[in-house]
Amino acid sequence: MTRFNRRDFVTFMGGSLALAAVGCAKKAPELEAVSSVKSMGLAPLGNDQLSLMQELKYEILLEWGQPISKNAHFGYNNDYLAILPTSEPDIWWLWINHEYCNPLFVSQYIKGSQKTKEQVAKEMSEVGGSLVKIKRNLKTGRWMFVPSSGKRFDATSKIPFAGGKVAGSDHGIGTMGNCAGGTTPWNTFLTCEENIDGYYGDVNSKGKQIDKPFLQWENFYNYPPQHYGWVVEVNPKTLAAKKLIALGRFAHESCTVHKLSDGRVVAYSGDDKADEHLYKFVSSKANSLEEGELFVANIKKGKWLSLSLEKQPLLQKHFKTQIDVLTFAREASKILGATPLDRPEDIEIHPASGEVFVALTNNVNRMNFHGSIMKLTPKDGDHESEDFKAQDFLVGGEGVGFSCPDNLMFDPKGNLWFTTDMSGKVIGKPPYKSFGNNALFYAPLSGPYAGEVIRVAEGPMDSELTGLCITPDKTGLFLSVQHPGELSKDAAKPTSHWPRGGSEIPRPCVVEIRGKFMEQVLG
Ligand code: FEO
Ligand code: CA
Ligand code: CA
Repeated sequence: MTRFNRRDFVTFMGGSLALAAVGCAKKAPELEAVSSVKSMGLAPLGNDQLSLMQELKYEILLEWGQPISKNAHFGYNNDYLAILPTSEPDIWWLWINHEYCNPLFVSQYIKGSQKTKEQVAKEMSEVGGSLVKIKRNLKTGRWMFVPSSGKRFDATSKIPFAGGKVAGSDHGIGTMGNCAGGTTPWNTFLTCEENIDGYYGDVNSKGKQIDKPFLQWENFYNYPPQHYGWVVEVNPKTLAAKKLIALGRFAHESCTVHKLSDGRVVAYSGDDKADEHLYKFVSSKANSLEEGELFVANIKKGKWLSLSLEKQPLLQKHFKTQIDVLTFAREASKILGATPLDRPEDIEIHPASGEVFVALTNNVNRMNFHGSIMKLTPKDGDHESEDFKAQDFLVGGEGVGFSCPDNLMFDPKGNLWFTTDMSGKVIGKPPYKSFGNNALFYAPLSGPYAGEVIRVAEGPMDSELTGLCITPDKTGLFLSVQHPGELSKDAAKPTSHWPRGGSEIPRPCVVEIRGKFMEQVLG
């Protein structure tokens, strides 16, 4: 099996700043702002604050545990954030993923003890997603959550499968591991089930257990592992949710949708595990992700390989049905010679060039500690084409000042923002010593400062900044501060007290960041 070998096709644009020009990014009027920003970027700090570069401020929009309706609270470890318009003027939907929970803080679990059903129930209520309405407070200029507008999806929600039965059932119970996601042109949210093995383990296509659960939920519930690892589509108006079989099952980090001229879509998704793969789905019906063809990437050959059972005799030797292929997409991909990648995480499409950017966070197994952002150029700009060209776009390392890129976002001007995800256990230790805590970076692609990578924000201890989302008025940024204090072993002595300070336990929050810099570069 071939593996992505960057030396085979890397295009560097110079030195440690391996930033390749997108070329068609607009000549941006923000150049003056960028030039003033260069000297304002944060140095790595490594402290227990959400630190922001000069002239930026944050306020908390939503905090773990706060009531969002009469019967629901804001879940733990907020991750992906996305907005969609409501039918009410000036009011927007905000979707928030709750990726996983920390039993130490959530259910007061003591390591090594037997969990009670009540503790498991508490943990089950903390994951999944929240849907709230937000509106701007005209006095303060800040976005506020509309009281009592919240809805929750969690590990107890009954969610049907779209497109058939999985492990004999037409529905699954719960959505967990909700990491990043996407939105569709028909105004629905996509929430991606990423790391699901801890809940009910995982099995291979022969039914053999390949991952053991480790949260003790299986002591009380016995749901099939095949019911998790899907992309879930949520309609905010109806609250209808469905697990999309057609997009395959793996550790979906995100799902990024490109609209074709006839209303069909192409959706890109990465499998965030070392040596796993990058996928593309092409829908066969307009305004739907329920039917179509799934492909997996051979990066070296620049080819999308079809995972259609009908088209692939090699798959016919191993699988009986298309749903089997999709349920065990990792196995099918390896049979076809898909390229193992260095943890493909978030994916974004450049708004002007249409090129596809993929965060490859790292691959310690292969001594790739700092990761990169890879760029795919579809042949003739056609996202349906089975041919593409791949190259490194931006490579992490000490010279460029970041390591382990994870979430990506292009702003309306086509400039790149991204956050990093160094594992909490390695922050501050070699070879990550110089990078401070996980941070938010701005990388303008056009103008004389193209190639600068500017540290805009840095998270508190053990945290990861995720869920980059520009506010509806395009003057600020919503951001998730996820898992502060994650390395704590004793709730009485947490490694972070953010955001409340004092002796408080840490609390994941969604913040809004505003200030002159944001207005200059986004406006
Ligand atoms: Fe949940 Fe791959 O980050
Ligand atoms: Ca992530
Ligand atoms: Ca991550």
